[in-house]
Amino acid sequence: MGRASAEKPKSTKFVLLVCIGLLGFALIADLLWASSSSSAYLSVPYFLQDSDNIIVPHLQNNTHTKGEKPIQDKKDSVPQRVLSATFADLPAPELEWEKMVTAPVPRLDGAAIQIKNLLYVFAGYGTIDYVHSHVDIYNFTDNTWGGRFDMPKEMAHSHLGMATDGRYIYVVTGQYGPQCRGPTARNFVLDTETKQWRDIPPLPVPRYAPATQLWKGRLHVMGGSKENRYTPGLEHWSLAVKDDKALEKEWRNEIPIPRGGPHRACVVVDDRLYVIGGQEGDFMAKPGSPIFKCSRRNEVVYGDVYMLDDEMKWKVLPPMPKPDSHIEFAWKIVNNSIVIVGGTTDKHPITKKMTLVGEVFQFNVHTLKWSVVGKLPYRVKTTLVGFWNGWLYFTSGQRDRGPDDPAPKKVLGEMWRTKLNL
Ligand SMILES: *[C@@H]1O[C@H](CO)[C@@H](O)[C@H](O)[C@H]1NC(C)=O
Ligand SMILES: *[C@@H]1O[C@H](CO)[C@@H](O)[C@H](O)[C@H]1NC(C)=O
Ligand SMILES: *[C@@H]1O[C@H](CO)[C@@H](O)[C@H](O)[C@H]1NC(C)=O
Repeated sequence: MGRASAEKPKSTKFVLLVCIGLLGFALIADLLWASSSSSAYLSVPYFLQDSDNIIVPHLQNNTHTKGEKPIQDKKDSVPQRVLSATFADLPAPELEWEKMVTAPVPRLDGAAIQIKNLLYVFAGYGTIDYVHSHVDIYNFTDNTWGGRFDMPKEMAHSHLGMATDGRYIYVVTGQYGPQCRGPTARNFVLDTETKQWRDIPPLPVPRYAPATQLWKGRLHVMGGSKENRYTPGLEHWSLAVKDDKALEKEWRNEIPIPRGGPHRACVVVDDRLYVIGGQEGDFMAKPGSPIFKCSRRNEVVYGDVYMLDDEMKWKVLPPMPKPDSHIEFAWKIVNNSIVIVGGTTDKHPITKKMTLVGEVFQFNVHTLKWSVVGKLPYRVKTTLVGFWNGWLYFTSGQRDRGPDDPAPKKVLGEMWRTKLNL
């Protein structure tokens, strides 16, 4: 069609209308996607609260950089720049992964503790409506699953805090039940040799997925989400413990954490306590829902690293190569480094879909340098990690929809391993 200069204002208006139409279509398509994929964990009601992230059409511009796909309206050929779904992936060396025996059940938001050659895998969602209340054990020596036993009835089923001294496993707070139900403040200790459980004093108030670690003879619990599952908590408590007993009746207040929120890695190396990544905000129960149906809310993911030493003042260290959350049991200490597997990063700025992480990161606690040490067979969140005899293992969690779509889909029990060389 001819574009005489006199017609220009009109056609510009038309082009704008087409763009607004496309934008509306994109939002509706997104809502449809979200409501139709009920099998995808927590993809239910999709809140588009930020209006600042809107597709900006580049009029009369047909160039696009690698990884960006132009979407064209058939009639008018109005190209617009759309960010690739895989925009958050980082360049990473290939690793050779070997698929091992799959766990007896799939698990999302489960917990895991490695003691010598055994990986104790706890709780988690099987589906959004079903939670596990037992422990499975993976034996790294003969690469088999077995040894299933029950958790106490009163113990939380997901979003647990967990730490070990090498024999006893301390289990704190977490969500009780499926969907987005409330938390419990109850805490337990497991003797892995006798499989006996004991109570230890409850937290002052419950938390979801707080950073938890055993440090200098005290069990430390900090951050997490508050009772509404969304609001970040800054409180930090500790309790003196020895073997399967608490040495005190009450938790002690400690220096609050600079940033609260759930799903962070909490690691002690060389007598220093590190808190890595995580997020503020999380899914919440839909108001009035009898099943506490999960509904998505705004979340902000962080790559922050905080460290406590003898001074008992938080120090800020270099951040992760990208924001990373859902990594509370996705780390191991290997040769002066903290190795972190997968997670979730910032949501896609245009589609708002949750974006999973497909890399393995290394943080050297001597040089304070981060590196990307390899690619996973797929992107995965809340995966459970072990290290034995030179092999890095990961099992369970929720994987992506495919190589080109990093949004979450299937909940897994798969176990994989690769030879690690740092
Ligand atoms: C065209 O697109 C490229 C790549 O996205 C961008 O760098 C450039 O600024 C755009 N030009 C115009 C006129 O919008
Ligand atoms: C782990 O496997 C090894 C080799 O089969 C076996 O000797 C050991 O008893 C197993 N450990 C447990 C706790 O089952
Ligand atoms: C850890 O260090 C030892 C000694 O330098 C080395 O033999 C080993 O390969 C390292 N392990 C990994 C996983 O890099």
